[in-house]
Amino acid sequence: MAKVFASQRLPGDALERLGLHCELEVWPEPTPIPPGVLAERLQGCVGLVCLLTNRVGRDLLAACPDLRFVSSMSVGVDHVAVAALTERRIPLGNTPGVLADTTADLNMALLLAAARRIPEADRYVRDGCWKPERPWYPGMFVGKDISGATLGIVGLGEIGQAVARRARGFGMRLLGWTRSGRAVEGVESVSLEAVLAQSDFVSVNVALSKDTRMLIDAEAIAGMKPGAVLVNTARGGIVDEQALAQALQSGALFAAGIDVFEREPVLMDNPLLQLPNVVVAPHIGSASQRTREQMAALAVDNMIAALRGERMPHCVNPEVFD
Ligand code: DGY
Repeated sequence: MAKVFASQRLPGDALERLGLHCELEVWPEPTPIPPGVLAERLQGCVGLVCLLTNRVGRDLLAACPDLRFVSSMSVGVDHVAVAALTERRIPLGNTPGVLADTTADLNMALLLAAARRIPEADRYVRDGCWKPERPWYPGMFVGKDISGATLGIVGLGEIGQAVARRARGFGMRLLGWTRSGRAVEGVESVSLEAVLAQSDFVSVNVALSKDTRMLIDAEAIAGMKPGAVLVNTARGGIVDEQALAQALQSGALFAAGIDVFEREPVLMDNPLLQLPNVVVAPHIGSASQRTREQMAALAVDNMIAALRGERMPHCVNPEVFD
């Protein structure tokens, strides 16, 4: 039977299903498998089911000559050297379609929390600062208006579109920019510069690639509307964190909601963590029970199809099947 390695236990019963189709070994620890150990465990394996915390680079491929299929339990695949896989005709599966709504929900949660200063207000109450000598007053935790504000969406893929649907319900005007020039109903398509200059809220929903790395750099941040809020649930590495922190500290921007960091887990000396007007989360965009089970199921469906000699239902480099 073909051997497959899964780099971590997955939610639901997905791996039990996979185990019916192969000789399956699963990394038993909750922490990511060290890269050198991953290469060792992959010896003799044709398949790898991985997570976004596993780097699948050229070095790993070179060390694993038997590897023929890779399936990642993620929609983003910036942790994988896709071109190297394609050169070796290794299909790479991912999990689109099931996490757009969940991620868009978190996107709106961060937008609302940043705009209405919810974490700051939460700390204020818990720290006992709200007391008779300091009662309610009209200027207390005043935030930004959401209805009637303009939301600029950078990237109008399935998550960007799900954000647009939600924002419409909040009475926001929508601008959008996408590299492909895709038109989305109800979203006015404009240049990236115009999105940044005109939006009260900017939502980053573009995939990380060599074209989008540092897309929102210091110059782009300087071009944002004064007092705007930036939300990133896409990937760290798209936004220049140092420049963002400076803009937030100087008051050029009002606040930010950040779920993804250039380096994860984020280092405690990251300047964004020092700022009260930044709401942070540890890359939990797709973290709901149903979504995580669906992602695991799709990752396993991709691997089972590959083991059967079929096309993966969700393949990032389908040209390998031609
Ligand atoms: C992905 O799938 O790429 C998300 O970032 C994690 O769910």
